[in-house]
Amino acid sequence: MDHNVSGIHVIESIDQLRILCKQHPNPIIIGEGSNVLFVKDVERPVFVIDLKGIEVINEGSTWKEVRIAAGEDWHDVVMWSIDQGLGGIENLSLIPGKCGAAPMQNIGAYGTELSDVLISVGCMDKQIGALFHMTKEACKLGYRDSIFKHESKDQYVITSITIRLTKEEHHQVNVSYGDIKAVLKENDITDPTIRQVSEAIIAIRSSKLPDPLQIPNAGSFFKNPIIPIENYNDLVIRHPEMPSYPVSDTHCKVPAGWLIDRCGWKGIKVGDVGVHTKQALVLVNHGSNNGQDIINLSRQIQKKVLDTYQIQLVTEVNVIA
Ligand code: EPU
Repeated sequence: MDHNVSGIHVIESIDQLRILCKQHPNPIIIGEGSNVLFVKDVERPVFVIDLKGIEVINEGSTWKEVRIAAGEDWHDVVMWSIDQGLGGIENLSLIPGKCGAAPMQNIGAYGTELSDVLISVGCMDKQIGALFHMTKEACKLGYRDSIFKHESKDQYVITSITIRLTKEEHHQVNVSYGDIKAVLKENDITDPTIRQVSEAIIAIRSSKLPDPLQIPNAGSFFKNPIIPIENYNDLVIRHPEMPSYPVSDTHCKVPAGWLIDRCGWKGIKVGDVGVHTKQALVLVNHGSNNGQDIINLSRQIQKKVLDTYQIQLVTEVNVIA
């Protein structure tokens, strides 16, 4: 990418970021843009964060703390951690995007979330250019959620993340997710290493989720809805196969992919956009140059799911209008 094409700035240093923040008070910040949907041409400048560096900053007998610059590719960092014998993020293999975006939505998959390993997030205050580390607690991480989507929206640029990973012999692999167990069993693996867990996850993701470089998509388009257990109990009488996962004593999570699939949308094409053939939660672009096409499709899906199940689906991708 050119370094300054029609308002796009590729940021490679903290000093450059500080200067640009002074010049442009209201930029759009992106990492790889893999969870972002643009619905029209934007007037605001775009900062592409390309800060690099991985550094072990602290160490105990069972763990290492690693600080990773926001522009590092997330999956490359997972592969690096496995090569170093450091456990904790193997279940987050093959998630597209850069490390700076990871706390924004508390990336999660196969029973692990970033919040399980996060220590703090390096931030630059855009207005004053000051750098500080926000503790994990202050980040208010939730299911695909953080303070950076609410109170602190547009206030900071994430410059780094610090995570704590476990050393060899202290790994606690998490294979509770059904798909992982099945893949390991197929391969006769009973006591998996972190590398074997990562390989199983890469196999599962590659079989269901389209590669954004081949079929443009932003992963799960909606969040999995969290509903009161009473509502679920009513629904399951009419839809006995509806899956659910416990969240708390009062609420459970229902897979949005299942709801969309059962409404008949899986694999459907509408003009140049559509619903992925293998995972109904992923909307795909077959060649549209207008993000609004995806929004229109998503609204039709939301309406159908609401009419059928009385559940309102909420968008997971970051829509920039
Ligand atoms: N299902 C269907 N039809 C579909 C898709 C799913 O019936 O077309 C059913 C599956 O059979 C299963 C359930 O829905 O019973 C859950 O499906 P899956 O395991 O594929 O996971 P998901 O809930 O659809 C979530 C995350 C993914 C993450 C996977 C694995 C969200 C919004 N999505 O998807 O994250 O990889 O679990 O942990 O929470 C992402 O955020 O972009 C993403 C891909």
